[in-house]
Amino acid sequence: MKAGTAVVTGASSGIGAATARQLAAAGWRVILVARRLERLLGLQTEIGNAEVLATDLSSETERVRVFEKIRETDILVNNAGFGWYGYFSKMPWETVREMLRVNVEATVHLTQLFLPGMLARKRGHIINVGSVSGGIPSQGIAVYAATKSFMDAFTTALHRETRNTGVNVSVVRAGPVRTEFCESAVGRENGGHVPTERMGVSAEYVARRIERLIRHPRRVIYVPWWLGVTPWFELSFGWLEDRLGPLLLRRKERSA
Ligand SMILES: NC(=O)c1ccc[n+]([C@@H]2O[C@H](COP(=O)([O-])OP(=O)(O)OC[C@H]3O[C@@H](n4cnc5c(N)ncnc54)[C@H](OP(=O)(O)O)[C@@H]3O)[C@@H](O)[C@H]2O)c1
Repeated sequence: MKAGTAVVTGASSGIGAATARQLAAAGWRVILVARRLERLLGLQTEIGNAEVLATDLSSETERVRVFEKIRETDILVNNAGFGWYGYFSKMPWETVREMLRVNVEATVHLTQLFLPGMLARKRGHIINVGSVSGGIPSQGIAVYAATKSFMDAFTTALHRETRNTGVNVSVVRAGPVRTEFCESAVGRENGGHVPTERMGVSAEYVARRIERLIRHPRRVIYVPWWLGVTPWFELSFGWLEDRLGPLLLRRKERSA
């Protein structure tokens, strides 16, 4: 697709900020969406061809405001999201509700707002930043994994609905990425340390894969690519995780 306008949610840090930089370097005019205004303004100064919309995507009214300001975009990267680690029974309801609103509701709502225009113009690409955890729902991340499973199912169905329309819908199933994700998870009430916090690829690596996905659209990409074994792993070794997973979580709890 020829470079045009790209909306990136969660552009104030991590994967979103790196994707915005990558797309701007490839000639896209990027619209940066997240809550932290200073971060967005700093990124705007750095990359130049960008617009800033400081928005809390957990709010329905705010999402509509974003759409009304932008109206048309060629690319929508639904990336804003956060995690929380620990026993579901100890997860505060406010955190559950916020996670469902940001990880699920904002993705569905923004997609519904922008998709009709893309279909009318026969041009567009919606990229949902998911996670391999959507396919391996591990202990400690019950709600987070469920939000990412939702993203997988939602994307797959929409990808099929939009076939031959000129619009693509894709999901990025990322493994661990070194961003502020773990810091943000542990900073929330009752939040534990995510076991993968010291692992992962860089946000820039994910951003390069996203930019390539726009040039070569596919329903799903794994980052890194070898994590494509995860659906097979869950099918073949889910029984093993049923036994070992709870022990790992208990150990993590005890050492906290
Ligand atoms: N890091 C990983 O290991 C990993 C692995 C797989 C998938 N992912 C997914 O990648 C995406 C990006 O995460 P990241 O790793 O880059 O973490 P990050 O550095 O913490 O970035 C999260 C982004 O989401 C934004 N966000 C959170 N709540 C928001 C809200 N209510 N309204 C608007 N924006 C909000 C944050 O901006 P503000 O705080 O400024 O609002 C921030 O820009 C998430 O969907 C995450 O689930 C991450």
